[in-house]
Amino acid sequence: MTTSWSPSSWREKPIEQQPEYPDAAALARVENNLAALPPLVFAGEARELRRQFAEVTQGRAFLLQGGDCAESFAEFSATKIRDTFKVLLQMAIVMTFAAGCPVVKVGRMAGQFAKPRSSGSETIGEVSLPAYRGDIVNGIGFDSTSRVPDPERLLQAYHQSTATLNLLRAFAQGGFADLHQVHQWNLDFIANSLMAEKYHQLGARIDETLRFMRACGLDDAPQLRETSFFTAHEALLLNYEQAFVRQDSLTGHWYDCSAHMLWIGDRTRQVDGAHVEFLRGVGNPIGVKVGPSIATDDLLRLIDMLNPDNDPGRLNLIVRMGADKVEDHLPRLIRAVQNEGRQVLWSSDPMHGNTMKASSGYKTRDFERILAEVRQFFEVHRAEGGYPGGIHIEMTGQNVTECIGGSRPVTEAGLCDRYHTHCDPRLNADQSLELAFMIAETLKQLRVG
Ligand code: PEP
Ligand code: CO
Repeated sequence: MTTSWSPSSWREKPIEQQPEYPDAAALARVENNLAALPPLVFAGEARELRRQFAEVTQGRAFLLQGGDCAESFAEFSATKIRDTFKVLLQMAIVMTFAAGCPVVKVGRMAGQFAKPRSSGSETIGEVSLPAYRGDIVNGIGFDSTSRVPDPERLLQAYHQSTATLNLLRAFAQGGFADLHQVHQWNLDFIANSLMAEKYHQLGARIDETLRFMRACGLDDAPQLRETSFFTAHEALLLNYEQAFVRQDSLTGHWYDCSAHMLWIGDRTRQVDGAHVEFLRGVGNPIGVKVGPSIATDDLLRLIDMLNPDNDPGRLNLIVRMGADKVEDHLPRLIRAVQNEGRQVLWSSDPMHGNTMKASSGYKTRDFERILAEVRQFFEVHRAEGGYPGGIHIEMTGQNVTECIGGSRPVTEAGLCDRYHTHCDPRLNADQSLELAFMIAETLKQLRVG
């Protein structure tokens, strides 16, 4: 079944969820341009993330993955990147400090542009147009010109990703992520909230710990002044991804250098399909979204294809069942993986199985159900003797009103106030922190117990 792989062998396989470009020659030109441009990441960094994933898989760390559902060209600014990064740092420090657990940080950032859609077209009234597939493909405006897939957008996505990654690297290593700055990571708009108060209390304890360490002469470790931060996106548009496949000069292996980690969506994980074919040949750590429709046998076949060496740092199964379905499906999957002795990093995406339509028409998610799915993810792992290794969420540092609920509740009527997402509803900073505190509490019990 597994014949020889090349960066373009996916082109021989059936493929889902691709745009229909009207001008094949223009697309080929852009693909060649992209292939000549510098990659975004270096293979050694992807290997370092694999090393960290292996730590998670073996129960010694926790994976935090988060960011926009879809990055967009319009909402591209230093402030937005900084604020999302701040919230991820806050969540990570809550988990690290409160639960005593190292946190591996991965952004859905610097490349998360392409979206799979439930329907290839969108109809409003009498008019049907091709669906919006993310800014890397076409425009969100509901008019026939915007919806034509334009290959030039691949280049724009690349340039925006490089600028985003450049800033993230500066923030991670240039002093912004210094642990002596924890209080600065709080965002103004959550001041006076219950979560801001809890966070300040934790920050005060960190300050005290740092003063103690300084007094003991232990204050100069680089880990206190900088952090490591990785990027990831769904590898959906394979003509874009192929352009970034480069052979590592140190090891001779192929890597997809568009991001450190790539994942396959729930709609494109066909065992014999193009997406699995493409990702099986690159050396990055990779993810697969696992929804309720997956057959147990198919999961095992996917693991065989994607992680034939059973490397603990290679494969992240991102479980996205919906709050009412985790208990129905996760036990059979964990048992099968355990019976076969497969090493995988299990994480929970509590977003994509919990999307609903509010009476006002907005696509939303109920924060209670998001918390419930994460709790059940932990509970099922406890019952089955597995390790719940991480979460994968859609969130932003902007003060949005997209998911209902939370300790400073967003109501259905309030969704229209600041609903800005280009695709799915995201957690705001307050809701993200609340989730982090809940997870920290659970992780602490797990680690102490
Ligand atoms: C996503 O992560 O934005 C997504 C589309 O998820 P899934 O493939 O799980 O539906
Ligand atoms: Co989404």
